[in-house]
Amino acid sequence: AAPQPLHDKIVVVTAGPTIEHIDPVRYISNHSSGKMGIAVAEALADAGARVKLILGPTSRQTTHTGIETIRVQTAQEMFDQVMKIYPIANIVVAAAAVADYRPVNVAGKKIKKGEAQLHIDLEKTPDILRTLGDSKGPQQLLIGFSLETNNEKEYALKKLREKHLDMIVMNSLADAGAGFNYDTNKVTLFDRDGKESNFPLKSKQAVAQDIVSAIIELQHA
Ligand code: PMT
Repeated sequence: AAPQPLHDKIVVVTAGPTIEHIDPVRYISNHSSGKMGIAVAEALADAGARVKLILGPTSRQTTHTGIETIRVQTAQEMFDQVMKIYPIANIVVAAAAVADYRPVNVAGKKIKKGEAQLHIDLEKTPDILRTLGDSKGPQQLLIGFSLETNNEKEYALKKLREKHLDMIVMNSLADAGAGFNYDTNKVTLFDRDGKESNFPLKSKQAVAQDIVSAIIELQHA
């Protein structure tokens, strides 16, 4: 039989949300379920890749035998795990919804309710994908996602350019059935050469197939 298209590739996929602790009982997070990233990881493994899935806090998981899952909670933990594997990775797909901000100080004890307003100072988390883009080797492929509510194309192209990506997958909360937690998604792919591919609403598994086909094409380009 012909070898599978990604049989010799080591691929890192980030998926799910991150949580950023405020105190032992509270955190900041977002609505990501991990479904999209897990579907991409499975489609990549089906294409023969050795997949490391760096997965944030979610009840979703995969039992695919081609996938090794590493569980993380915070953006910093996700960053550390991705950086460990990056030197030997051929492809990285960043589907995680990483928190952009975290509390500057994490309280060691539960913050007690008082009469006054509570202010929590936030600092930026490390931008994982940007860091990868800044040190990308000539043989490495970087694929990002872009989730917005408005000005989708403008922001997606900005991320593609500024994070030195080979391709970005744009999805929008303005599209019914697309984005967080749905079993479906509607995406547009933009590659580094400016090629735009639009897809209709379909299952996240089918979206993942489209993304993997585009990755295989990019490899040959
Ligand atoms: O998990 P689901 O419920 O199935 O939902 C899927 C999804 C909507 C989460 C997914 O399709 C998606 O769009 N993921 C990216 C969400 C996001 O936060 O996008 P962004 O536009 O803020 O980030 C741009 C890119 O940079 C992303 O590839 C992100 O993983 C990456 N990033 C962002 C911030 C950061 N600190 N580090 C990063 O690596």
